[in-house]
Amino acid sequence: MSKPHNDTFLRALLRQPTEHTPIWLMRQAGRYLPEYCETRRRAGSFMELCKSPRLACEVTLQPLARYELDAAILFSDILTVPDAMGLGLYFVEGEGPKFERPLREEWEIRDLAAPDPYGPLRYVMDAVSEIRRALDNSVPLIGFSGSPFTLACYMIEGGASDDFRRVKTMLYDRPDLLHHVLAVNARAVADYLNAQIECGAQAVMIFDTWGGALSHSTYREFSLAYMARIVAELKREHDGQRVPSIVFTKGGGQWLEEIAAIGCDAVGLDWTVDIAAARARVGNKVALQGNFDPMALFASPENIAAEAKRIVDAYGPGSGHVFNLGHGISQFTPPDHVAALVNAVHEHSRTLRTHAA
Ligand code: CP3
Repeated sequence: MSKPHNDTFLRALLRQPTEHTPIWLMRQAGRYLPEYCETRRRAGSFMELCKSPRLACEVTLQPLARYELDAAILFSDILTVPDAMGLGLYFVEGEGPKFERPLREEWEIRDLAAPDPYGPLRYVMDAVSEIRRALDNSVPLIGFSGSPFTLACYMIEGGASDDFRRVKTMLYDRPDLLHHVLAVNARAVADYLNAQIECGAQAVMIFDTWGGALSHSTYREFSLAYMARIVAELKREHDGQRVPSIVFTKGGGQWLEEIAAIGCDAVGLDWTVDIAAARARVGNKVALQGNFDPMALFASPENIAAEAKRIVDAYGPGSGHVFNLGHGISQFTPPDHVAALVNAVHEHSRTLRTHAA
């Protein structure tokens, strides 16, 4: 059994008592850190950074050296899975991710298959093992994947999109085809996350970045149902420890009860949600993760601390809150403002517990 020395994050996900509210940040290893930019320059490109377990491990640890974060997250990308399916991922500076061979023809969709996580995705598994070794049980390591629907958006659009025209045309005209893509993606994600768990990931998170772009009636059928399928297949224990799961649908505030019912341990919240109301809605079914507006990190350190306290207080007493941003950190964030956030969350939540005791 290997339990991290600081297992506050894992305990909060399981709604067990903690001495403080744990915090980590989506995209905590990223371009706002000069040391990340330096390692990325040495790697040559973002994909080469992802594909080198040694360098991926190096950047995973960078934010932990600067801040007292309560968890590390595997440095990789959600689009490694469709890349391993043969779609050819590349990044264009300023335009984001693109695929050389997006899914356009019916035969391409029929040919799609879930990749072996120990085959073309071996480099991710090697990074997980290497990061676990380097962390030496200091804090837990989070593994992750994109949701089947979010991956399908990139696979069908061929890159980022602001209206999801192609994927939604398929949804309304050929739901059978989209369901086929989603079923393959769900198989791929379940295998990929279980392999990350076998290699040492101590919690896993599903990023459903675009589920919130769906209509009320299609979200359940085209996004949530496939995440439910994955959660049901996840290994719940490894190495004698529970491996909690987090599901995050950006823009999913109106479906919190339904997300909480799929069997995950925690639900991620974006910044548009009132965390006090969210807690009342999900009751004691799940923990909550969130939900500081990433743009509030541009405010002064005093105002950052005030906003952090507001969120900690709004969640209220008792365990079950993992502090995070409502979405990824901006590349323009001043690094010392992150320290102000982490320290405010720790200090304020410790004070609250002392007063409650
Ligand atoms: O949180 C972490 O520190 C772990 C690493 C991580 C990255 N991407 C690193 C990354 C995680 C968890 C992701 C997830 C991811 N990737 C999502 C879901 C979460 C979200 O933000 O909504 C999505 C949609 C992607 C796809 C993707 N990859 C985009 C849209 C971009 C940005 C492209 C750009 O040019 O701005 C990426 C690239 C990426 N992934 C970067 C990082 C640090 C920046 C790339 C660089 O160094 O140039």
